[in-house]
Amino acid sequence: MKTALSETAVGAVLSQGARSLAAAGLPAARLDAERLLGWALGVDRLGLLIEPLRQVSPHAMERFREALERRRRQEPIQHILECEEFGGLVLRTGPGALVPRPETELLVEWVLEREGREGPWRLAVDVGTGTGAIACALAVRVPHLRVLAVERSPAALALAADNIASLGLRARVELLAGDLLEPVAGAAGTVDLVIANPPYIRSADLADLPQEVRDWEPGEALDGGPDGMAVHRRLIAESPRVLRPGGWLLMEMGEGQAADLSAAMEAAGFEAVGVQQDLRGIERMIAARKR
Ligand SMILES: C[S@@+](CC[C@H](N)C(=O)[O-])C[C@H]1O[C@@H](n2cnc3c(N)ncnc32)[C@H](O)[C@@H]1O
Repeated sequence: MKTALSETAVGAVLSQGARSLAAAGLPAARLDAERLLGWALGVDRLGLLIEPLRQVSPHAMERFREALERRRRQEPIQHILECEEFGGLVLRTGPGALVPRPETELLVEWVLEREGREGPWRLAVDVGTGTGAIACALAVRVPHLRVLAVERSPAALALAADNIASLGLRARVELLAGDLLEPVAGAAGTVDLVIANPPYIRSADLADLPQEVRDWEPGEALDGGPDGMAVHRRLIAESPRVLRPGGWLLMEMGEGQAADLSAAMEAAGFEAVGVQQDLRGIERMIAARKR
């Protein structure tokens, strides 16, 4: 069913759009409507809100109507807008890669603190780079750092390549296609940091994810195997080969995975294992140092 947009002034169009999204069960309907109408008009949210009587042109109205229909089908807003902010950067997003999340911004902040204390670090590997979010944020914030960004999904590689190029980071972020640490085997013993936001949903739980994640984000970015930690375990086993002594492995993880991953890291000979919570108090990140 098409959303009826009978009004033409911004304030009224927004209200109609928000009602239409709310009726489709979208929890942040008003905010979504504001972002979509701002996008349709080519103005930011503030520009939209200070001019409620501004008239929406027929062209912008059609763009807004189409965007509303996509959002009503639970398509992530970042796929419609084709971008998302991450760590102060604007990244291109799309169905080929996970939409970067705020939790992962915290992972980057955690690395930056550590680098500030222990650096300068010269070489980092971002495993499963997706849109290139972590790699680009690190490269922008740490000007002396070179980042090798590994990814095996061709669609994600294309998005990451775009982001690295548009942020002017090609000289310091190298994109490599392949499986986990296999493409960086040549850097054995020299890497200061291996960082990853691996897929961490248990395969059996994928069906219970919110529809906008389950139906619209790539399975290979979500499915962490039977216990959700298959990729983490491989990184724990394989990263000591590329890390220098004293180098760090930092990973994002799912709720309830901290104890198993801490034990696995200790068993693999890592030291100084530490866990950090996200803003909801969930243990979300784990770090350990190679002896
Ligand atoms: C949870 S997403 C994280 C994406 C991005 N780092 C972020 O934080 O937004 C995990 C990514 O790892 C990639 N991936 C999964 N298994 C992989 C493997 N064996 N080798 C390389 N990349 C892998 C997926 O394609 C996906 O892009």
